[in-house]
Amino acid sequence: TLKHYKVPKIEDMPSLGLPIENAKRAAAYLAVDENLDIFHHRIIGVGSGSTVIYVAERLGQYLKDEKFRDYVSQFICIATGFQSKQLIMDSGLQYGIIEQHPVIDIVFDGADEVDPNLQLIKGGGACLFQEKLISTSAKTFIVVADSSKRAPSKLGSHWRKGVPIEVVPPAYVRVRNDLLTKVNAKTAVLREGGKAKAGPIVTDNSNFIIDADFGEIEDPKTLYKEIKLMVGVVEAGIFVDNAAKAYFGNADGSVEILD
Ligand code: 5RP
Repeated sequence: TLKHYKVPKIEDMPSLGLPIENAKRAAAYLAVDENLDIFHHRIIGVGSGSTVIYVAERLGQYLKDEKFRDYVSQFICIATGFQSKQLIMDSGLQYGIIEQHPVIDIVFDGADEVDPNLQLIKGGGACLFQEKLISTSAKTFIVVADSSKRAPSKLGSHWRKGVPIEVVPPAYVRVRNDLLTKVNAKTAVLREGGKAKAGPIVTDNSNFIIDADFGEIEDPKTLYKEIKLMVGVVEAGIFVDNAAKAYFGNADGSVEILD
Protein backbone atom coordinates (compact mmCIF):
# COMPACT_ATOMS: atom_id res chain seq x y z
CA THR A 1 0.00 0.00 0.00
CA LEU A 2 0.92 3.59 -0.49
CA LYS A 3 1.86 4.73 2.98
CA HIS A 4 3.52 8.07 3.12
CA TYR A 5 3.49 11.35 1.38
CA LYS A 6 6.15 13.83 2.20
CA VAL A 7 8.17 16.65 0.78
CA PRO A 8 11.88 15.95 1.11
CA LYS A 9 14.08 18.54 2.75
CA ILE A 10 16.81 18.75 0.21
CA GLU A 11 18.62 22.02 0.69
CA ASP A 12 21.05 21.43 -2.13
CA MET A 13 18.51 20.22 -4.67
CA PRO A 14 18.98 22.46 -7.68
CA SER A 15 15.95 23.14 -9.83
CA LEU A 16 16.46 22.41 -13.49
CA GLY A 17 13.21 24.08 -14.34
CA LEU A 18 12.11 20.89 -16.05
CA PRO A 19 9.25 19.36 -14.04
CA ILE A 20 10.07 15.78 -14.98
CA GLU A 21 13.71 16.19 -13.92
CA ASN A 22 12.63 17.71 -10.59
CA ALA A 23 10.37 14.71 -10.05
CA LYS A 24 13.11 12.20 -10.78
CA ARG A 25 15.64 14.05 -8.65
CA ALA A 26 13.28 14.31 -5.67
CA ALA A 27 12.57 10.56 -5.76
CA ALA A 28 16.23 9.63 -6.12
CA TYR A 29 17.51 11.97 -3.40
CA LEU A 30 14.89 10.94 -0.86
CA ALA A 31 15.40 7.24 -1.64
CA VAL A 32 19.14 7.56 -1.01
CA ASP A 33 18.72 9.73 2.08
CA GLU A 34 16.23 7.38 3.71
CA ASN A 35 17.71 4.02 2.80
CA LEU A 36 21.44 4.30 2.45
CA ASP A 37 23.22 3.42 5.68
CA ILE A 38 26.43 5.33 5.10
CA PHE A 39 28.20 3.78 8.06
CA HIS A 40 27.31 0.14 7.40
CA HIS A 41 26.58 -0.33 3.71
CA ARG A 42 29.59 -0.95 1.52
CA ILE A 43 28.51 -2.63 -1.73
CA ILE A 44 26.01 -0.42 -3.57
CA GLY A 45 24.16 -1.27 -6.79
CA VAL A 46 23.50 1.57 -9.21
CA GLY A 47 20.84 0.80 -11.81
CA SER A 48 20.13 2.26 -15.23
CA GLY A 49 17.99 4.97 -16.75
CA SER A 50 17.39 8.68 -16.40
CA THR A 51 16.24 8.63 -12.74
CA VAL A 52 19.29 6.78 -11.49
CA ILE A 53 21.43 9.67 -12.76
CA TYR A 54 20.23 11.51 -9.64
CA VAL A 55 21.09 8.56 -7.38
CA ALA A 56 24.68 8.81 -8.61
CA GLU A 57 24.53 12.60 -8.21
CA ARG A 58 23.40 12.21 -4.58
CA LEU A 59 26.11 9.63 -3.84
CA GLY A 60 28.64 12.02 -5.37
CA GLN A 61 27.43 14.77 -3.01
CA TYR A 62 27.92 12.52 0.00
CA LEU A 63 31.39 11.69 -1.26
CA LYS A 64 32.30 15.38 -1.28
CA ASP A 65 30.88 15.99 2.21
CA GLU A 66 33.70 15.77 4.74
CA LYS A 67 31.37 14.19 7.35
CA PHE A 68 30.82 11.17 5.11
CA ARG A 69 33.82 11.13 2.76
CA ASP A 70 35.80 8.50 4.65
CA TYR A 71 32.89 6.07 4.44
CA VAL A 72 31.56 6.82 0.95
CA SER A 73 35.04 6.62 -0.57
CA GLN A 74 35.09 2.99 0.63
CA PHE A 75 31.86 2.13 -1.22
CA ILE A 76 32.17 -0.28 -4.09
CA CYS A 77 29.48 0.49 -6.67
CA ILE A 78 28.20 -2.25 -8.96
CA ALA A 79 26.72 -1.24 -12.32
CA THR A 80 23.80 -2.70 -14.26
CA GLY A 81 25.31 -1.78 -17.61
CA PHE A 82 27.55 0.54 -19.54
CA GLN A 83 25.58 3.70 -18.69
CA SER A 84 25.62 3.08 -14.95
CA LYS A 85 29.32 2.23 -15.02
CA GLN A 86 29.93 5.67 -16.56
CA LEU A 87 27.68 7.30 -13.93
CA ILE A 88 29.62 5.66 -11.11
CA MET A 89 32.98 6.70 -12.50
CA ASP A 90 31.83 10.25 -13.35
CA SER A 91 30.64 10.71 -9.75
CA GLY A 92 34.09 9.80 -8.45
CA LEU A 93 32.83 6.60 -6.82
CA GLN A 94 34.73 3.31 -6.81
CA TYR A 95 33.53 0.85 -9.43
CA GLY A 96 33.45 -2.89 -8.80
CA ILE A 97 32.15 -6.00 -10.53
CA ILE A 98 29.50 -8.38 -9.31
CA GLU A 99 31.76 -11.38 -9.83
CA GLN A 100 33.93 -9.98 -7.03
CA HIS A 101 31.02 -8.74 -4.89
CA PRO A 102 28.14 -11.18 -5.39
CA VAL A 103 26.22 -9.91 -2.36
CA ILE A 104 25.09 -6.30 -2.61
CA ASP A 105 23.92 -4.30 0.41
CA ILE A 106 21.47 -2.05 -1.41
CA VAL A 107 20.53 -1.30 -5.01
CA PHE A 108 18.72 1.75 -6.40
CA ASP A 109 17.16 1.30 -9.82
CA GLY A 110 14.45 2.80 -12.01
CA ALA A 111 11.36 1.12 -13.46
CA ASP A 112 9.05 1.50 -16.42
CA GLU A 113 5.96 0.50 -14.47
CA VAL A 114 5.28 -0.34 -10.82
CA ASP A 115 2.04 -1.95 -9.64
CA PRO A 116 0.57 -1.61 -6.11
CA ASN A 117 2.24 -4.91 -5.10
CA LEU A 118 5.69 -3.62 -6.04
CA GLN A 119 5.82 -5.79 -9.14
CA LEU A 120 7.71 -4.08 -11.96
CA ILE A 121 8.21 -3.89 -15.68
CA LYS A 122 11.81 -2.96 -16.45
CA GLY A 123 14.09 -2.97 -19.45
CA GLY A 124 13.07 0.20 -21.26
CA GLY A 125 16.79 0.92 -21.47
CA ALA A 126 17.61 -2.67 -22.54
CA CYS A 127 19.59 -3.38 -19.34
CA LEU A 128 17.14 -5.86 -17.83
CA PHE A 129 19.46 -8.86 -17.53
CA GLN A 130 22.05 -7.10 -15.39
CA GLU A 131 19.30 -5.24 -13.54
CA LYS A 132 17.76 -8.59 -12.63
CA LEU A 133 21.14 -10.04 -11.65
CA ILE A 134 21.99 -7.10 -9.43
CA SER A 135 18.55 -6.56 -7.88
CA THR A 136 18.21 -10.24 -6.96
CA SER A 137 21.73 -10.17 -5.47
CA ALA A 138 20.87 -7.23 -3.22
CA LYS A 139 19.69 -7.38 0.37
CA THR A 140 17.51 -4.34 -0.33
CA PHE A 141 16.15 -3.19 -3.69
CA ILE A 142 14.78 0.36 -3.85
CA VAL A 143 12.93 1.63 -6.92
CA VAL A 144 13.18 5.29 -7.96
CA ALA A 145 10.81 6.77 -10.54
CA ASP A 146 8.64 9.71 -11.45
CA SER A 147 5.00 9.30 -10.57
CA SER A 148 3.98 8.52 -14.16
CA LYS A 149 5.43 5.05 -13.59
CA ARG A 150 2.84 4.08 -11.01
CA ALA A 151 0.27 1.63 -12.40
CA PRO A 152 -3.04 2.11 -10.57
CA SER A 153 -3.79 -1.62 -10.71
CA LYS A 154 -2.35 -4.26 -13.04
CA LEU A 155 1.02 -4.25 -14.76
CA GLY A 156 0.66 -3.56 -18.46
CA SER A 157 -2.15 -1.06 -17.94
CA HIS A 158 0.20 1.85 -18.08
CA TRP A 159 3.50 1.11 -19.83
CA ARG A 160 2.20 0.63 -23.33
CA LYS A 161 5.44 -0.59 -24.87
CA GLY A 162 5.13 -4.15 -23.60
CA VAL A 163 7.42 -6.41 -21.61
CA PRO A 164 11.08 -6.21 -22.71
CA ILE A 165 12.59 -9.66 -23.24
CA GLU A 166 16.29 -10.26 -23.87
CA VAL A 167 16.94 -13.04 -26.40
CA VAL A 168 20.00 -14.71 -27.89
CA PRO A 169 20.13 -13.33 -31.47
CA PRO A 170 19.60 -16.53 -33.53
CA ALA A 171 16.51 -17.35 -31.44
CA TYR A 172 14.63 -14.09 -31.94
CA VAL A 173 12.20 -15.34 -34.61
CA ARG A 174 11.46 -18.49 -32.62
CA VAL A 175 10.90 -16.51 -29.38
CA ARG A 176 8.72 -13.98 -31.18
CA ASN A 177 6.55 -16.80 -32.54
CA ASP A 178 6.38 -18.52 -29.15
CA LEU A 179 5.31 -15.27 -27.49
CA LEU A 180 2.49 -14.83 -30.00
CA THR A 181 1.27 -18.43 -30.01
CA LYS A 182 2.05 -19.84 -26.55
CA VAL A 183 1.49 -16.96 -24.14
CA ASN A 184 -0.94 -14.85 -26.18
CA ALA A 185 1.16 -11.74 -26.70
CA LYS A 186 -0.80 -9.22 -28.76
CA THR A 187 2.39 -8.06 -30.42
CA ALA A 188 6.04 -9.07 -30.15
CA VAL A 189 8.41 -6.64 -31.81
CA LEU A 190 12.17 -6.77 -32.21
CA ARG A 191 13.49 -3.51 -30.76
CA GLU A 192 15.36 -1.52 -33.37
CA GLY A 193 17.79 1.32 -32.89
CA GLY A 194 17.80 5.00 -33.61
CA LYS A 195 15.65 7.05 -35.91
CA ALA A 196 17.13 5.47 -38.99
CA LYS A 197 16.07 1.98 -37.75
CA ALA A 198 19.64 0.90 -38.21
CA GLY A 199 18.97 -2.70 -37.20
CA PRO A 200 18.26 -4.29 -33.82
CA ILE A 201 19.35 -2.78 -30.52
CA VAL A 202 22.21 -4.88 -29.13
CA THR A 203 22.36 -5.24 -25.33
CA ASP A 204 25.46 -5.03 -23.12
CA ASN A 205 25.47 -8.85 -23.35
CA SER A 206 25.37 -8.84 -27.19
CA ASN A 207 21.74 -9.98 -27.32
CA PHE A 208 18.53 -8.59 -28.84
CA ILE A 209 15.38 -7.24 -27.17
CA ILE A 210 11.82 -8.19 -28.06
CA ASP A 211 9.04 -6.00 -26.65
CA ALA A 212 5.92 -8.10 -26.11
CA ASP A 213 2.59 -6.44 -25.36
CA PHE A 214 0.19 -8.50 -23.23
CA GLY A 215 -2.21 -5.72 -22.34
CA GLU A 216 -3.08 -5.90 -18.64
CA ILE A 217 -1.16 -8.76 -17.06
CA GLU A 218 -3.35 -10.89 -14.77
CA ASP A 219 -0.61 -12.99 -13.21
CA PRO A 220 2.89 -11.52 -13.68
CA LYS A 221 4.65 -14.35 -11.85
CA THR A 222 3.19 -17.10 -14.03
CA LEU A 223 3.76 -15.13 -17.22
CA TYR A 224 7.36 -14.51 -16.18
CA LYS A 225 7.97 -18.24 -15.64
CA GLU A 226 6.41 -19.13 -18.99
CA ILE A 227 8.56 -16.63 -20.86
CA LYS A 228 11.73 -17.68 -19.03
CA LEU A 229 11.23 -21.28 -20.14
CA MET A 230 11.29 -20.37 -23.84
CA VAL A 231 14.42 -21.49 -25.65
CA GLY A 232 16.58 -18.45 -26.39
CA VAL A 233 15.21 -16.21 -23.64
CA VAL A 234 17.94 -14.82 -21.39
CA GLU A 235 15.69 -12.73 -19.13
CA ALA A 236 12.31 -11.04 -19.08
CA GLY A 237 11.62 -7.56 -17.74
CA ILE A 238 9.03 -8.68 -15.20
CA PHE A 239 10.36 -8.21 -11.67
CA VAL A 240 8.35 -9.80 -8.87
CA ASP A 241 9.07 -10.41 -5.19
CA ASN A 242 12.22 -8.42 -4.68
CA ALA A 243 11.57 -4.67 -4.59
CA ALA A 244 11.31 -3.40 -1.00
CA LYS A 245 10.03 0.13 -1.67
CA ALA A 246 9.33 2.48 -4.55
CA TYR A 247 9.82 6.24 -4.48
CA PHE A 248 7.69 8.22 -6.95
CA GLY A 249 8.67 11.86 -7.41
CA ASN A 250 6.35 14.66 -8.45
CA ALA A 251 7.26 17.85 -10.26
CA ASP A 252 6.73 19.94 -7.09
CA GLY A 253 9.43 17.96 -5.29
CA SER A 254 7.03 15.86 -3.23
CA VAL A 255 7.49 12.10 -3.18
CA GLU A 256 5.10 9.19 -2.70
CA ILE A 257 6.53 6.05 -1.14
CA LEU A 258 5.11 2.59 -1.78
CA ASP A 259 6.22 -0.19 0.56
C1 5RP B 1 16.51 0.19 -18.07
C2 5RP B 1 15.44 0.30 -17.07
C3 5RP B 1 15.22 1.64 -16.45
O1 5RP B 1 15.45 1.58 -15.09
C4 5RP B 1 13.81 2.06 -16.76
O2 5RP B 1 13.66 2.10 -18.18
C5 5RP B 1 13.46 3.42 -16.17
O3 5RP B 1 14.19 4.44 -16.75
P1 5RP B 1 13.95 5.97 -16.44
O4 5RP B 1 14.45 6.22 -15.04
O5 5RP B 1 14.75 6.68 -17.49
O6 5RP B 1 12.48 6.24 -16.58
O7 5RP B 1 14.75 -0.63 -16.72
O8 5RP B 1 16.58 -1.10 -18.61
